[in-house]
Amino acid sequence: MSIRTIEWKNNCIRMIDQTKLPQKLEYLNIKDLKALWQAIKLLKVRGAPALGGAAGLGVYLGIKGSRATGFLQFDNELRKVCDYLASSRPTARNLFWGLERMTQVSRANKNKSVSEIKKILFQEAMRIIEEDRVSCRKIGAFGAKLFSDNDSVLTICNTGILATIDYGTALGVIYRAHEEGKRLKIYACETRPLLQGARLTTWELKRKGMDVTLICDNMAAALMQQGKIKKVIAGADRIAANGDTANKIGTSGLAILAKYHKIPFYIAAPVSTFDLKIKNGKEITIEQRCSSEVTDLFFKKPIAPKGVKVFNPAFDVTPNALISAIITDKGVIRQPYLKNICSYLK
Ligand code: MRU
Repeated sequence: MSIRTIEWKNNCIRMIDQTKLPQKLEYLNIKDLKALWQAIKLLKVRGAPALGGAAGLGVYLGIKGSRATGFLQFDNELRKVCDYLASSRPTARNLFWGLERMTQVSRANKNKSVSEIKKILFQEAMRIIEEDRVSCRKIGAFGAKLFSDNDSVLTICNTGILATIDYGTALGVIYRAHEEGKRLKIYACETRPLLQGARLTTWELKRKGMDVTLICDNMAAALMQQGKIKKVIAGADRIAANGDTANKIGTSGLAILAKYHKIPFYIAAPVSTFDLKIKNGKEITIEQRCSSEVTDLFFKKPIAPKGVKVFNPAFDVTPNALISAIITDKGVIRQPYLKNICSYLK
């Protein structure tokens, strides 16, 4: 059975509630903007490309009831919707890319009636969803060429169906290699503190009948030392013009380990994750999340003394020098990134 992470159904946003996995595959029907904001904040929907889809659908959800009588009033309402959704999480470029794209389409049609613009925005949101499905499959096709039969692959967080509309970026590469008949052994980092690797990646891979082994995040170095990892692949939340890449906290550590052990380290992401306005990773805003994610095991059992100081960044930045290649929907980009990213993305 194929599943969709997020879609428009019965006049509302239907999404998988990812906080319920792997115990239950449960769907949420999101009917208002506040519920969407909370779903994003609490990671009920998460993963950069899925957030791009949420942005498109969210803008339509926010303006479909507008009673604006002219474009200026409508544009003002649309800006408020975008500002509100933009305040949910700061790091994934795709969220902002989706909001900007919806705004531009609306403005490009300012001479049309408000009801026509609403229809155009609905079509644009559907296009964002469809483009994600296509671009993930392109990433998969480009990336699978870098993987061989019997490779053992380490990954972090969740970059699959649940992080996109229905396929995946880094996991999409793994799925495509598997579809091509390559036998891969996948090691999934649990991904503290919210356990996207343990809860979501292993769930997806097991559903597909693939060979997945769950490890604690601090086990990666030992596996590499024992020669058990042939390749590392991760997704991205935002990629700067020079290739510096923000992704789930712990990614840069894996990249450093991979460099030391001479293991290729790949990033997989669609072009909507690139932010060419920023020169390097220092300019990327890293989301800081609440302390209970660290002190309480997935919000349930306390595992740390009450009141302990907590540092809880959701992402880190991997310097471009540690990245062997960036696999995109336009092809595989290698060093020098500053030059090659611009020519690929043109
Ligand atoms: O905090 P999350 O779960 O939204 O973090 C997601 C990641 O870090 C993913 O690796 C990234 O968004 C790429 S998803 C294809």
